[in-house]
Amino acid sequence: MGLGGIWVEKWRYGALSALVGLSLGACSLLPERYAVNAPLGNLVFGSGISAPSPSEWESQIRVPDGFQVSLYATGVRNARFLHFTAAGDLLVSQPRLGQVLLLERDRNGDGLPESRRILVQGLRRAQGLDSANGWLFVAEEDAVLRLPFDADSGEITGAGQKVVTGLPTGGNHWAKTLRAGPDGWIYLTVGSSCNVCEEDDPRRAAMLRFRPDGERLEIYASGLRNAEGFDWRPETGELYATDNGRDLLGDDFPPCELNRIRRGGFYGWPYANGNNRPDPDLGPGHEDRIRDAIEPVHGFRAHNAPLGIAFARTPNPLPRDYSNAAFVALHGSWNRTEKDGYKVVSLHWPEQAGESIEERDFLWGFEVDERVIGRPVDVAQGPDGALYISDDYAGSIYRVARESEDRPKARKIAPEATQPKAPLAGLDPNVRRILSEEGARSYATLGCAGCHDPAKAKPGVTAVPLDGLASRYRLGQLERFLETPTPPMPPVELEPEARRALAIHLLETHGQ
Ligand code: HEC
Repeated sequence: MGLGGIWVEKWRYGALSALVGLSLGACSLLPERYAVNAPLGNLVFGSGISAPSPSEWESQIRVPDGFQVSLYATGVRNARFLHFTAAGDLLVSQPRLGQVLLLERDRNGDGLPESRRILVQGLRRAQGLDSANGWLFVAEEDAVLRLPFDADSGEITGAGQKVVTGLPTGGNHWAKTLRAGPDGWIYLTVGSSCNVCEEDDPRRAAMLRFRPDGERLEIYASGLRNAEGFDWRPETGELYATDNGRDLLGDDFPPCELNRIRRGGFYGWPYANGNNRPDPDLGPGHEDRIRDAIEPVHGFRAHNAPLGIAFARTPNPLPRDYSNAAFVALHGSWNRTEKDGYKVVSLHWPEQAGESIEERDFLWGFEVDERVIGRPVDVAQGPDGALYISDDYAGSIYRVARESEDRPKARKIAPEATQPKAPLAGLDPNVRRILSEEGARSYATLGCAGCHDPAKAKPGVTAVPLDGLASRYRLGQLERFLETPTPPMPPVELEPEARRALAIHLLETHGQ
């Protein structure tokens, strides 16, 4: 198979023995520029030492002429996917907190939700959400949950039921996205377990679909490395999905993708990248598969990490130029020499067949000179026609609307207040020492150093050290981060006590 064992080295992660395919084994072969270059500054609340000042926000965040941006909600930790209910309330998934939040519709037109409350909790890393025919569907890491939902009152009205169970868990892309299709089927994407590898489970790196009761589950499309965002183009009913290209082939290759998804279609991964260029590791010997692969309809810049996508829909008070556009959240690069992405773009389809899709900046300024103040995740158009964007770094929801007289002027965007902490202060010193030692053993056996410890990273790799954790995480928050990290870091599959010990160890050793 010519893998040489190095590209798909399997790392054993803890008590649940979840096997995760990481590409770290290849590190020794890589030049220095493949270092981890992610905004380690603050992954949970965006309120740490590197939090931007209000004036920094205002001077950085930009929208095209004719639009205005305002802050719809803050303090929405780990805000991932969005869904507007039929009544206009905004649901936000928070996988790290295992919950779905409901932001009540803006009844008085002041540009803010009337209230917020937890709609569902106790979920396992829930990300994807949608509602249809009186049901709310939520994609947990291992299952799809269906709950009876009354949109008018915004209430869950009865017991939930898991209509799909046993989905593959763990690995680099553990979060599942879900949408109710216009054809009455429920669509679900499952990302790959690794950077590049041949999956044992055909449900990995694929789009699945099933009836609302979970019956007739099928693999709808395959070869999709991590297609977290998808939507149907209203004019044509065509289904489009974003996809994140693989890592470790340089700063500028391969492109991230927008694919037009067809039933039974194969989209190339892991044998080909971009416009069906054979993968240097897994391509050879799979020429037939590569020939059959469907090429992307649009390439995003490499490592930009496109996630959520939403087509504009009516009623639609957007400028005409935007009324048929799609909006895509680019979460931003983690392993690129210079950071890239960190914005929302609009995609404009050509008038004439054969011409290419045009990509334009729509909401940008989250990264300037390598300093990051936000990471867009998903986009949803509200009943007011405005675009709402989630940010899992700053914990915010932004609203981008047409600039007009009769709407409140964009409010100033201000970050959450900084709250320095002494997260281990309440622990008994002896208990603390014993747990920290246990955590140190986990840190060593789980191979965290390969990505995070410059001294222990393999030759040629410049790992970014973990530091200043105590100023940003309370103990429980760090435990939750480890359980639900930001991809591509795989979830730490330890028993809760062992995960707590690891968090204590990190705060002891990398707190400052
Ligand atoms: C595949 C490489 C990889 C491995 C292995 C890995 N991490 Fe990470 N980790 C990352 C990346 C990348 C980020 C930043 C994610 C982002 O925002 O893009 C991160 C972020 C973190 C953070 C948050 C840092 C901050 O400043 O907020 C902590 C804590 C952390 N990792 C701990 C660990 C521990 C403990 C382990 C071992 C169990 C581990 N990591 C294993 C890649 C890795």
